[in-house]
Order: sequence, then C-alpha cells, then structure tokens
Amino acid sequence: MLIVIPEVLAPTELNSLRNELLAADWIDGKATAGSQSGAVKFNRQLPELGDTSVRLGHIVLKKLGQHALFLSAALPKTIYPPLFNRYEGGEHFGTHVDNAIRPVTGTTQIIRTDLSATLFLSEPDTYEGGELVIESQFGAQEVKLKAGDMVLYSATSLHHVEPVSNGQRLCSFFWLQSLVREDSQRALLFDLDQSIQTLGCELGPNHPETLRLSGVYHNLLRKWADV
Ligand code: NI
Repeated sequence: MLIVIPEVLAPTELNSLRNELLAADWIDGKATAGSQSGAVKFNRQLPELGDTSVRLGHIVLKKLGQHALFLSAALPKTIYPPLFNRYEGGEHFGTHVDNAIRPVTGTTQIIRTDLSATLFLSEPDTYEGGELVIESQFGAQEVKLKAGDMVLYSATSLHHVEPVSNGQRLCSFFWLQSLVREDSQRALLFDLDQSIQTLGCELGPNHPETLRLSGVYHNLLRKWADV
C-alpha cells in the first residue's frame, strides 16, 4: 500500500508549525535509528520528548483523527507519537527498512510498525532533492509532496531520502500499528470502503445494495481485525 493523504494540515496551520519548528533546538537524527539505519542516516530531529515535539505531535494526531481518508486507509490501532525531522546542506538518509517493533519512548507501550508515514511540511519548490524513494513490487516510487500532504506506505518497504542540496526539508514522520496487520487485507477493505462511500452518495446510505456492502465491510473487518 502506498497512498497520498491530502491536506492533513491547512496552509495557516503550516505557517505557525514551521515557525515553531525553526525556533526549536534540533539533535542528530541517529537518536531514534537502529544500528543499520543509524549508519546511513544524516539529518536532524526534534528531541522526542521535548515540548515542541509533543505539542506539535498532538496537533498532527488531532488532524489525522478527523481525516476520513487516513482512517479508512490505515485503520489505525496505535499511532507512534509523531516525530519531526529536518534535512539541509546535502543531508540524506540512505536505504533502510524501519524497525518492525518499536517501544514508544517514555512509556511501557510497544507497537508493531505496519505502516510508515511522512507528512511534508515544506513547500516542494523551496528545496532541491529530498525525495522519499520507496521500493515496491512495481519498482522505486519517488515521493515529494505539497506541504500539508502525507504519504502512507507499508513499513516493510526499503526506502531512502535523497540528499537535500538546496533549501530545507521539514517533515513529520511516524509509524502505526493497524487493526488489520496484512497489507493485502487492509487494501481490500480500503477499496471496499471507498466504493461504499461513493454508492452511499449515488444511491443513498440506506439503499439495500449500500447496506449489503456495508455489512460485508464490517463482517470482513470483524474477521480480520486484531484488537
Ligand atoms: Ni525510514
């Protein structure tokens, strides 16, 4: 699964968020990397438990909780508190895979990373490079989105971030454990839900065919969800 979730943040929200980020103190991005990824990671991050990171992370989580497309695609069970990173002056992140299991810093919680997410915070024409390149069965896909848009992709994918040769790339990133572990099952539920939404608009939410498909959706979710 690789899906773009548009307009997680609005332009006015982005301005104040970027200003807060630029005024914050940053640390070496290796802080949250494992041994393989740490060796190829060259960027900066906000300290995970710092005030700015926690406050801005809550804003992102609140917006995601209201975003119907995100909820439909991810079926989130537990979302890792969003982190923030910054690339400039040739910084990059070489090919790696995200850790499968992540203890949530400062808690006793542990999550299985089913999906990875990158929320772009800088406008793409303000920096050169910085594409997120995700390897999939259809080849490598380059992702560089409008500020406020987010990509959601399978955490099983190898990926890297191209060097940022000019300007500055600010992003938020995080992982989540989905109610539905299998990517293929989650993708089927997503397609079905999108069709039900369209049918609901065209035929009405109480049309017998819309209702029957809604029943199929919920019964599949009941079968596959891990709660
Ligand atoms: Ni990664």
